[in-house]
Amino acid sequence: MELQNKTLAILGAGNLGTAIARGLLAAGMLENNKLIMTKRKPSGLEEFARQGITVTTDNTAAVQAADIVLICVQPGQLARVVAEARGALHNKLVISTLTGVTLAELAQLLPDTNTLARAMPNTALAVRQSMTCISVNASGAATRLVEAVFSVLGQTIVIDDELMQAATVLGASGIAFWMRLIRATIQGGIQLGFHAPEARKIAVQACLGAASLLLDDPDSHPEAEIDKVTTPKGCTIAGLNEMEHMGLSSALIKGIVVSHTKIAEI
Ligand SMILES: NC(=O)c1ccc[n+]([C@@H]2O[C@H](COP(=O)([O-])OP(=O)(O)OC[C@H]3O[C@@H](n4cnc5c(N)ncnc54)[C@H](OP(=O)(O)O)[C@@H]3O)[C@@H](O)[C@H]2O)c1
Repeated sequence: MELQNKTLAILGAGNLGTAIARGLLAAGMLENNKLIMTKRKPSGLEEFARQGITVTTDNTAAVQAADIVLICVQPGQLARVVAEARGALHNKLVISTLTGVTLAELAQLLPDTNTLARAMPNTALAVRQSMTCISVNASGAATRLVEAVFSVLGQTIVIDDELMQAATVLGASGIAFWMRLIRATIQGGIQLGFHAPEARKIAVQACLGAASLLLDDPDSHPEAEIDKVTTPKGCTIAGLNEMEHMGLSSALIKGIVVSHTKIAEI
């Protein structure tokens, strides 16, 4: 695997940076001595320091020692991190996870850095089921390396950078959308007589089963799977049509479009 023997520096090891580190370490994709994590206040990273991972406040030293640099700070913190480490970044593969900072904007901040990438994972990387959307400004080798990092944490897809805002809504905000749908079906189940844990178990497994049917057969379509469970004049089609009369599909599409409009304003 291409990732082995590479040293990874995570600049800004907060929620996302530590989740990525945990996933890579758990998968055995990275030796402890090949990972460096930075933070201005390194308290909170003791679990990593105890494992022999370098934890430091020195972004420049971290970048100097690394082959791949993953920038995981908040957008407002990017300029400072780049200012600190700019001199050492030019010959590295730099991957940004920052929402809303385009490859063109990164290239302006780092004009001497040839290999720039963006990665937009979601919180399911904690269980190595992230959908991570990737855009890269460089060669196939760099793309394969970015995919090597994130494929350990779930699925990856390489997309045009112009679609990264849409990817953020569908893939990252998508976790919240699906959680709300699952919560609503649990509430429906409780109203029908189940205790909450039972309703949760049934609703979550039904959701996983639906997704698995589509994952298992890439040629399948949600509507074809719906046809299989909707008996003419039956209960499923009656309930489904009622949900549509109440605007289910329309609400989801409109919500996704509103999130996309909002992300452009942030
Ligand atoms: N969380 C997600 O699910 C998710 C998903 C996709 C993308 N993103 C994006 O990923 C980025 C990080 O998100 P997050 O949730 O992980 O944020 P976070 O928890 O706030 O992590 C950012 C970390 O950066 C550190 N930091 C700030 N300035 C620094 C500096 N000069 N040098 C070194 N470290 C510095 C902060 O720690 P100190 O204050 O101690 O320095 C903080 O722990 C954001 O831009 C977000 O848009 C997040």
